[in-house]
Amino acid sequence: MKTIHLSIDGKEIECVEGETLLWVALDHAIYIPHLCLMKEMEPFGACRLCFVELEGEDLPVTACTTKVKEGMVVSTRGAKALRLARTALELTLSNHPVDCAHCLKSGSCELQKIAKHLRVKLNTKKFKKFLRDRPIDETSSVLIYEPSKCVLCGKCVRYCQEKLEMNPIGFAYRGFQRWVTTFDDEPVGLSECGGRIELAEICPVGAFVAKNKGNKKNIVNPVRKGGASNPTLP
Ligand code: FES
Repeated sequence: MKTIHLSIDGKEIECVEGETLLWVALDHAIYIPHLCLMKEMEPFGACRLCFVELEGEDLPVTACTTKVKEGMVVSTRGAKALRLARTALELTLSNHPVDCAHCLKSGSCELQKIAKHLRVKLNTKKFKKFLRDRPIDETSSVLIYEPSKCVLCGKCVRYCQEKLEMNPIGFAYRGFQRWVTTFDDEPVGLSECGGRIELAEICPVGAFVAKNKGNKKNIVNPVRKGGASNPTLP
């Protein structure tokens, strides 16, 4: 393992060559928005929120798919990267009800955190609103699944596939109709994931939440508790 040096937002950092830029930044208290990845998962590149700029490169890159190199100079606050990340967030919000006042995940929701960081209004009207009209599924004894809140990050699907080595849930359909569902659209309570409370912990928004309302303030991303935060963005 070779130790290298790079700078992110002017902060000098020492790390191991070949590590993923996103995790290096987060491990050094530099927040880069991300929804679709957990540590030890292969990058999926779905959320497009983790754009950064590299000195000498014209186009922003996604931090989750970029490996660190000696001498790299990274900015998380470049105008081009922020414009892309903000647009990705606004598109995500256009498919989300943003009903925070009635959401069990409010306060620990990654969308709220990212919107605040990127200075995007949660009720942005930049894109036409399009919500998935699917019923709330309360058939599980431990989970509530609310498809209209899903941001299609895929973390729950990949957690089941990669960590549990089973496929109780997956993506169905395409475009605006795309959603996460069980095999044959059976109720969540009847599927293999029905008792998996960790889905509520993995879900970055209020799509999967724990049934016990007392858990409201305890639902956090188990991989990145707390986390870094950056100074105000331009
Ligand atoms: Fe990089 Fe989602 S974390 S695209």
